[in-house]
Amino acid sequence: MNQNIDYPDFFELVNRRYSCRNFSDAPVSRDVINAVLETARVAPSACNRQPYKFLVIDSPELCKVVYGCYNRSWICTASTFIIAVGNHNEAWHRDYDDKDATDIDVAIAVEHICLAATSLKLATCWVCNFQKSILIKGLDIPEGWEPIVVIPIGYPADSEPEKTRKQIEDIVKWGKF
Ligand SMILES: Cc1cc2nc3c(=O)[nH]c(=O)nc-3n(C[C@H](O)[C@H](O)[C@H](O)COP(=O)(O)O)c2cc1C
Repeated sequence: MNQNIDYPDFFELVNRRYSCRNFSDAPVSRDVINAVLETARVAPSACNRQPYKFLVIDSPELCKVVYGCYNRSWICTASTFIIAVGNHNEAWHRDYDDKDATDIDVAIAVEHICLAATSLKLATCWVCNFQKSILIKGLDIPEGWEPIVVIPIGYPADSEPEKTRKQIEDIVKWGKF
């Protein structure tokens, strides 16, 4: 095992990830997508339920379905997508209030995907503001499964924009709220 992953490298990777909304035409190999997806496979999930599947969309026919689910023209610059689909019945629910961990579990795996992609010089974007019903119908997603995140993935056509973030003291409290 490589013991040399240190904080500066990790921070640089995390800081380099950004939401790409303009992809180049360069094709993404299935080997690269498989490598990225391995990092989703090893993600943690509540009670290790792993209540998700990841649909890889890289045919022009199915890309059209994805383009149709999200009303922004930039999405058509991508020609590969990973659709994270969650199953609320498979996911862990907290006993006393039935709080459902599906979205948390999916979110962790999706961020693994985005970071792994960044490490391979690919770019991604989290997309949640899509029409679920279009994906369910067009991708034959069965009952019980919910498309939660659409991830366009590809080589970026633009350079990384400036990050805008709150200051650390605005989000961290040492001690009580
Ligand atoms: C849960 C979630 C949903 C998001 N949905 C969308 C979306 O539908 N469309 C979009 O363009 N960006 C979406 N984003 C990207 C955010 O706008 C972006 O992460 C944020 O503005 C910070 O910018 P950065 O990712 O470039 O650092 C989403 C991000 C998250 C985490």
